[in-house]
Amino acid sequence: MRLILATHNPDKRKELEAILRAEMDGTVEILTLDDIPVGEIEETGETLEDNALLKARAVFEETGIPAVADDTGLEVKALGGAPGVYSARYAGEGATYEANVRKLLQELGGTEERQASFISVIAFCEIEKEAQIFRGEVHGKIAYEPRGTNGFGYDPVFIPGEPGDRTYAELSPEEKNENSHRGKAMRLFAKFLHSQLVVEQH
Ligand code: IMP
Repeated sequence: MRLILATHNPDKRKELEAILRAEMDGTVEILTLDDIPVGEIEETGETLEDNALLKARAVFEETGIPAVADDTGLEVKALGGAPGVYSARYAGEGATYEANVRKLLQELGGTEERQASFISVIAFCEIEKEAQIFRGEVHGKIAYEPRGTNGFGYDPVFIPGEPGDRTYAELSPEEKNENSHRGKAMRLFAKFLHSQLVVEQH
């Protein structure tokens, strides 16, 4: 089976690809938008589910290849769930990762209430079937300052709690994928794919 990762974000794509390759053990051929380019997809939905579905549907309709999309948000309790669905453009349209992190730390100031959750929603769209949705969550907290150089986005300020007090950016890519919001959602997706492949073989 072939499927295509419906994301223009190279950091996310790297993670999705690594997790899926590890889980699917060579049983799927994974394509990306580098192999089959499609136009920019506007994320106009109001929820992570809406946006993930919108991206998976758009890429499936344009390429005809079963498509997997991820939409992710960081929800910070003291900020009433912000930046949430607006995580990519928290500091404004086209904001850099650094600018978003800076704004987040500024908004939180010195408050000790630093609980936050990372939530990933994976949507899968394939021929003549209902779209499927998979969700992964990790509850942790926001650091007082950025630490670590791995990963991307808010990784330098998100402390997942497991393992220990390190931020995502201080974990190796394998450690992050093992327990991350995206890893959890992708593993549910992989389980679904495995069950589909078993059905197809009978
Ligand atoms: P979207 O899912 O493309 O809307 O991405 C939302 C934004 O959340 C990204 O631009 C990143 O800043 C951030 N983000 C998504 N996934 C992660 C992650 O695994 N770690 C840190 N930041 C992330």
